[in-house]
Amino acid sequence: MLLKKLKEDPAQYDGQLVELQGWVRTNRNSKKIGFIELNDGSTFSNTQIVYEDGLPNFAETSKITLGSAIGVKGTVVVTPEGKQPFEIHADQVEVLGLADHDYPLQKKRHSFEYMREIPHVRPRANTYYAIFRLRSVLSMAIHTFFQDRGFVYVHTPEITGNDAEGAGECFTVTTRKDDKYGDDFFSKHAQLTVSGQLHVEPFALTYRNVYTFGPTFRAENSNTTRHASEFWMIEPELAFADLGDDMDCIEEMIKYCINYCLEHASEEMAFFQKMIDKDCIDRVTQVANSHFKRMTYTEAIDHLEKAKDRFENKDIFWGMDLQSEHERYLCEQVVQGPVFLTDYPKDIKAFYMRVNEDGKTVAACDLLVPYVGELVGGSQREERYDVLVERMKEMGMETESLQWYLDLRRFGGCKHSGFGLGFDRMLMYLSGIQNIRDVQPYPRTPRNLVF
Ligand code: 4AD
Ligand code: MG
Repeated sequence: MLLKKLKEDPAQYDGQLVELQGWVRTNRNSKKIGFIELNDGSTFSNTQIVYEDGLPNFAETSKITLGSAIGVKGTVVVTPEGKQPFEIHADQVEVLGLADHDYPLQKKRHSFEYMREIPHVRPRANTYYAIFRLRSVLSMAIHTFFQDRGFVYVHTPEITGNDAEGAGECFTVTTRKDDKYGDDFFSKHAQLTVSGQLHVEPFALTYRNVYTFGPTFRAENSNTTRHASEFWMIEPELAFADLGDDMDCIEEMIKYCINYCLEHASEEMAFFQKMIDKDCIDRVTQVANSHFKRMTYTEAIDHLEKAKDRFENKDIFWGMDLQSEHERYLCEQVVQGPVFLTDYPKDIKAFYMRVNEDGKTVAACDLLVPYVGELVGGSQREERYDVLVERMKEMGMETESLQWYLDLRRFGGCKHSGFGLGFDRMLMYLSGIQNIRDVQPYPRTPRNLVF
């Protein structure tokens, strides 16, 4: 029997004998009676197991340590006056796997830093238990959103020959040094993907609306709370869509995901609200019901210019790449909610973005949100062959290896747009957890690869 099922309608099982397996979260007892908080993995809250000295192995049960795996046979007792709606009165408790004395979790709050050293047990601590289920729920929200709207899910490769973003932040793929192929395994330079975008575009020009959703890798040597070397990204691509359509899709998707998580991870969200960020539910609910503001980069520079004294980097000028303090000021102080920044100078953006009529800016958007900063980066793609070639040359890129990408502009190319949502940052936004290392099961950041 799974506790999730029992919890849905305890009255239906009142007085019935059930069999459970799970892990001990606490065990406290006196000479005559003991209480185990059991979690079987199926639901957020623990269930209380009551055992009395009539139990044949009462002494052994009293000594069961935190983290141990046990099996329980017992009777469901509905407790309308109790803290929990029901408890289990044990007839039999069997130790399935005792946790040794050096089990690293105790019944107290451990620091995030400590927990990062023990990724194999930290999912059993409440914060992580909640966040990793939310990860699963949010994944489902994303798939449901796109599948319901007829988008085709495309698996883009992890190993690739190109640096989609042109930022040179790639991890190289080689074989072992003593392997006969060495660096030449693919007979060309190979790297881990920084983005599935270039590989998903051909599919948008086939199925119209598509998305890829998978891990991406960046060798950015920036030790921040928002950057990971490996992170998941959702990258939809929409044919016959301009930047406005792109932003509409982003906004609709984010609101859908918020509502989906509030509904399907309600206990987890309530936990975050109680323990991590005291207004996280109100905050995201408000976002789900608001209209996302849109502001051009040029307008943003005006706002920053006026407030420059408050920044560490006070050198505000048109053409600059915004730093995180600037982005946060715009969404936290100026707009006080999510804001799309659009029409960035072309010199600070990727080669594939469509050049605007002014010749200086590109049809790009970044969605900035309070606490997190940049959550989404998107753009309308340059569909004009000659303009794209020109821009690549201007940026010093060689065009040969991307001829296939250019060819898409000659083989039935059309107006199209897309974006990338940082999945891990979306989790930070939903939960209020401040560090990306605490929303990823096995975080990878510079000089950090625990196992
Ligand atoms: O803005 P980015 O670099 O955009 C792209 O990669 C485009 N090719 C997307 C597209 O149009 N298909 O990355 C998109 C998002 C960012 O807004 C951010 O949320 C997240 O990915 N991101 C990171 N998340 C965690 N760690 C990092 N190092 C990240 N770099 C980007
Ligand atoms: Mg970006």
